[in-house]
Amino acid sequence: MNFYIKTYGCQMNMRDSDAATAMLSERGHTLVEKEEQADIIIFNTCSVRKKAEDKVIGKLGFMKKLKRKNPNLILGLMGCMAQRLGDELFVMVPNLDFVIGTDQLHTIGDVVDAEAHKRHKFVSTEVQKDVLTEMGKHYKIDNKTSEFVAIMRGCDCYCTFCIVPYVRGREKSREIPDIVEEVKELAEAGIKEIILLGQNVVAYGLPKVKLPLADDNSPFADLLEAVHAVEGVERIRFASPHPAYFNDKLIKTMGQLPKVCNNVHFPLQSGSDRILKKMNRPYTSEEFIEKANKLKKHVPGITFSTDIIVGFPSETEEDFNMTRKVFNEVEFDNAYIFKYSPREGTGAAIYEDQITDEVKEERNKILLGDLKTMFGRNIQTDVGETVNVLVEGVSKRNSERWQGRTPTNRVVIFDPIDDIKAGDIIDVKVNKATAVTLFGDVV
Ligand code: SAH
Ligand code: F3S
Repeated sequence: MNFYIKTYGCQMNMRDSDAATAMLSERGHTLVEKEEQADIIIFNTCSVRKKAEDKVIGKLGFMKKLKRKNPNLILGLMGCMAQRLGDELFVMVPNLDFVIGTDQLHTIGDVVDAEAHKRHKFVSTEVQKDVLTEMGKHYKIDNKTSEFVAIMRGCDCYCTFCIVPYVRGREKSREIPDIVEEVKELAEAGIKEIILLGQNVVAYGLPKVKLPLADDNSPFADLLEAVHAVEGVERIRFASPHPAYFNDKLIKTMGQLPKVCNNVHFPLQSGSDRILKKMNRPYTSEEFIEKANKLKKHVPGITFSTDIIVGFPSETEEDFNMTRKVFNEVEFDNAYIFKYSPREGTGAAIYEDQITDEVKEERNKILLGDLKTMFGRNIQTDVGETVNVLVEGVSKRNSERWQGRTPTNRVVIFDPIDDIKAGDIIDVKVNKATAVTLFGDVV
């Protein structure tokens, strides 16, 4: 049968969709590029903000038409919304055939085959460790330079704004040899850059650990070393980490391993200690800055990206200005600024003093303006320098030029040289920078 998967949300969902695609192809099903060509349509969904869920509900409404045209069409939902709403979804979307939760990824082949034989409303949101067994499957890795490797699932942090611990469950980590095996296969297939993934990737191998972490306890640092030793891997990145888990061992290991890129996602959320406490984020703004400074010291040239929530319940102008201060002090190349969206069942959803949309919008705009100024200034420091570039391919804007990325995750545009191909690692002398992009010549 032909299948189509539509993915919403984070990189972990993209990885899960890729693993699901691999599992369904192994059973003889064929991935198609258009919904109209499919016998099976699967939505891999996100619950982090209300907007993400509304999008899926809207889209599912359109499916009525397709189902009328093709009554045999199988319609399924997986991912965080599936986990959160379970069989309630059959009431909301009567056309739906199956719903499988986040821990049921490994069952997708069986579920689809069972539906094809006998149509029944199937739902499973059972929590299982078995999900770890097939999550490392990849569909197509030819012609790619970079691949995600999921190393853990779930989150035990319970930030009060966040639905993830409820829909992704408790932290579960894979074993190092299992992960290394997957990385080796990817490297042998020509993948140069590995991006380690997890809901809180730096909590890898630390279930139920109490914070603060001891300075020498970081199974994630051990994993970095093991992945670093794989021949053919040239770059290692990871997403998404929680700042409280960056201890001395991890920071020093990052500095010592040359393949680990000097760019890290470092989610601040807020710069006000009062708000951080209400968010259940176990650090103060001062500790956040201290950790960033330690990273700057041990990982030369490091650049940061971050997540910030504006308009968390009771956030005052003063709280917001503290966020702005930390944001500008640490300096970020990129930032995802979110307007707080109450999620049913999370701690903060019932807090009083919810903030109006206008105020959220205004604060959002201010931070985006700061980001533009900050990055526009910082990117200029690369002009005149020679940077290392992982070649990605033809530039998206200008087909005569090529593009690649520095370890600091900045995009570089250059004129191609003979025999250049995606995956090459070259040096480029930067001669110009616009607000977001570097331009240079291959040396
Ligand atoms: N570490 C996780 C983060 C998940 S959510 C992962 O990558 O899997 C990603 C970001 O969304 C958070 O860092 C937070 O800034 C934002 N976010 C989470 N819940 C939110 C909410 N209820 N409203 C607005 N933003 C939210
Ligand atoms: Fe969410 Fe906080 Fe975990 S943002 S994913 S509960 S670290």
